[in-house]
Amino acid sequence: MRILVLHGPNLNLLGRREPHIYGKETLADVNARLEALARELGTELVIVQSNHEGVLIDTLHANIDKADGAIVNPAGITHYGVPLHDAIAAMPFPVIEVHLSNIAAREEWRHRSMISPVVDGTIQGLGWRSYTAALRAVVEIAREKEKR
Ligand code: DQA
Repeated sequence: MRILVLHGPNLNLLGRREPHIYGKETLADVNARLEALARELGTELVIVQSNHEGVLIDTLHANIDKADGAIVNPAGITHYGVPLHDAIAAMPFPVIEVHLSNIAAREEWRHRSMISPVVDGTIQGLGWRSYTAALRAVVEIAREKEKR
């Protein structure tokens, strides 16, 4: 089983970027936690961070027939990203949206997600735990799909 992990713009700065909001862990720390959990769950991860919406879309397209699921933190793209919305809608596998912070409790313009309508579910507000909870969920959903 192969799960895509997509990190959007500015998440390369995790640990240094507004740590009171996003936490002190770096992106490498978060990815290490995900890799450890993936080993436990017996799944392979393809992890990509990009500051460019098109790179995230190209990664989805390249994996349309290879991935069994995806977890995506679209970061700032969340709030305006029609092209990423459309790309996720086109994927045949389950996708979970992830946010470190609770976007419902932040500025009003962050309350709307362009991505939420086309994902299986959203996990937010739990810091790095949002990612690990999402990985557990997407693997479970993908395995259920395999059985059908
Ligand atoms: C974020 C929330 C977004 O509003 C913000 O633009 C980000 C990170 C989060 O993980 O909490 O860059 O997706």
